[in-house]
Amino acid sequence: MDLGIRGRTAIVCASSRGLGKGCALALAEAGVALVINGRDRRLLEQTAEEIRRASGVDVQAVVADVGTPEGQAALLAACPTPDILINNNGGPPFRNFRELNRRSILEGVTMNMVTPIELVQQVIDAMAAQRFGRIVNITSMSVKMPIAGLDLSSGARAGLTAFMAGVARGVADKNVTINNLLPGKFDTARLRGGFGVAAQRANISEAEAEARSKSDIPAKRFGTPAEFGQTCAFLCSVHAGYITGQNILLDGGLYPAAF
Ligand SMILES: NC(=O)c1ccc[n+]([C@@H]2O[C@H](COP(=O)([O-])OP(=O)(O)OC[C@H]3O[C@@H](n4cnc5c(N)ncnc54)[C@H](OP(=O)(O)O)[C@@H]3O)[C@@H](O)[C@H]2O)c1
Repeated sequence: MDLGIRGRTAIVCASSRGLGKGCALALAEAGVALVINGRDRRLLEQTAEEIRRASGVDVQAVVADVGTPEGQAALLAACPTPDILINNNGGPPFRNFRELNRRSILEGVTMNMVTPIELVQQVIDAMAAQRFGRIVNITSMSVKMPIAGLDLSSGARAGLTAFMAGVARGVADKNVTINNLLPGKFDTARLRGGFGVAAQRANISEAEAEARSKSDIPAKRFGTPAEFGQTCAFLCSVHAGYITGQNILLDGGLYPAAF
């Protein structure tokens, strides 16, 4: 399908690997020029080169912490008026909520709520003025269903979701959409990092922790960053202009609900 966004520009935050990279690759395949981002220069340059070779689009690699004002300024300097913004960031580590203190709570809220809001503030008026904009926030299935040890992540992302619900309605008549993608379990470094913690807690091998994690999913497999990215690219397409303010769960059936 032609997504109708060839020649558009996108900032894809936190995209040197994992879900962000999946989104960047899918947008590049649709002909979108990219700014990609991460903190590790070597990995980011490698990803940028991989995307250029695969798609031929222009890819700028911005080494920056997206959670800082300087990092955001660097991203916007590379692409001051993006047509598309994909908000992504690392997530807080697994931790019992009793171990959190004020500083770590504020850090988590800054990463997963404040940062995407700040970026939206900086791009949305130009999108509205040109009558085209697509914003996708990568949140988590944990917005709908608690995940042990990720209470901070869940709370911050739920806050973002509620915040964006109003913002989305305010720009819908300008052909600017804002949607959230909620990953269940996707095969990335972050997911694999969690198996070590789970294995230690249950006194089992990492392979066993992985098998148990997979067996909970009706699809009996983890999602791939490529399929996540294709969904993101569709939401950024001309065909998705009537979808806004939505929370789209990609979880292989894991969230057990009829609606
Ligand atoms: N994978 C899943 O199943 C799953 C499920 C639910 C929610 N999520 C959420 O989805 C998001 C992406 O997860 P993932 O699995 O793709 O993680 P990942 O494989 O660990 O990739 C994270 C990416 O973000 C970059 N990054 C991290 N912190 C950054 C920062 N401060 N500034 C700029 N870039 C940064 C990393 O590069 P550098 O480290 O080099 O900066 C890397 O490119 C996370 O918020 C995660 O909590 C994932």
